[in-house]
Amino acid sequence: QDIPTSGHKRVLVAAPRGYCAGVDRAVLAVQKALERFGAPVYVRKQIVHNVHVVTELEAAGAVFVDEVDEVPEGAHVVFSAHGVAPAVVQAAADRGLQAIDATCPLVTKVHREAVRFARGGREILLIGHARHEEIEGITGEAPEHVTVVDSPAAADTVQVRDPANVVWLSQTTLSVDETMQTVRRLRERFPLLADPPTDDICYATQNRQVAIKKVAADADLVIVVGSANSSNSMRLVEVARAGGARAAQRVDYADEIRQEWLDGVTTVGVTSGASVPEVLVREVLAQLAEAGYRDVEEVHTAQEDLVFALPKQLRDDADGVS
Ligand code: F3S
Repeated sequence: QDIPTSGHKRVLVAAPRGYCAGVDRAVLAVQKALERFGAPVYVRKQIVHNVHVVTELEAAGAVFVDEVDEVPEGAHVVFSAHGVAPAVVQAAADRGLQAIDATCPLVTKVHREAVRFARGGREILLIGHARHEEIEGITGEAPEHVTVVDSPAAADTVQVRDPANVVWLSQTTLSVDETMQTVRRLRERFPLLADPPTDDICYATQNRQVAIKKVAADADLVIVVGSANSSNSMRLVEVARAGGARAAQRVDYADEIRQEWLDGVTTVGVTSGASVPEVLVREVLAQLAEAGYRDVEEVHTAQEDLVFALPKQLRDDADGVS
């Protein structure tokens, strides 16, 4: 689809944007758990990395904790979409907690790959952000076998025990281009580096990056709706800048848009991270309309139909006993 150019103020909205299947399932899991078991339902870490979602769920009776030892014995606890290390599952069981695992199935897939490679005696170079919950969870599957590589530059210095026996895996929400750069730099040093069996960067991350790249090529300013601790949202800001937007800004809410960002701007691109409800995008579009950007066009680059089943304790055919 060609993007028409014109001199008047307009908005190009990227599609796909916003909720992915894993976030949808995780948020619904907390809502269903509240319905089924009543408040409070405890959630280890933010269920998804979005301020608005967390605030709304808190208002509905969810209690967010950092670790399972803050949860009263026997209570229900939901594990967030980013996944947990086996030690966390064990700690919850030791405490007699009723655990509901809202880990995105595409994160679980990376856990399984890590376990399989570790069992085969491989050394795993895990590309991602060391302190991100997803990386902590995956590393926890096989700490002896995993080394985190957190940037292309880190690929030049990371040490391995046996260069003939290494494989790379990655966090699901990275920049596709930057990850490929990291892999190229790793491969220059370790030519026998093996690839993962399938992409670890998930479909939602990839689709949102492709869409915003197309928008950014034609936009003066790109606004990404998403929270600061949301990896995939932050990557959308970077991809928009690399993709040709003169500027890219992240906001949680529409009222954070500053008048000066719009100075001299004809075309505004808009997208949202995988953990962002559409209502927040609509508020941004309303704010932009007030500033004269009323011509809104969607730039569509992919169709998404993926839906994940709820965790088993929450399915309609479950008896509510975990
Ligand atoms: Fe899962 Fe990708 Fe969303 S890993 S939670 S589908 S961003």
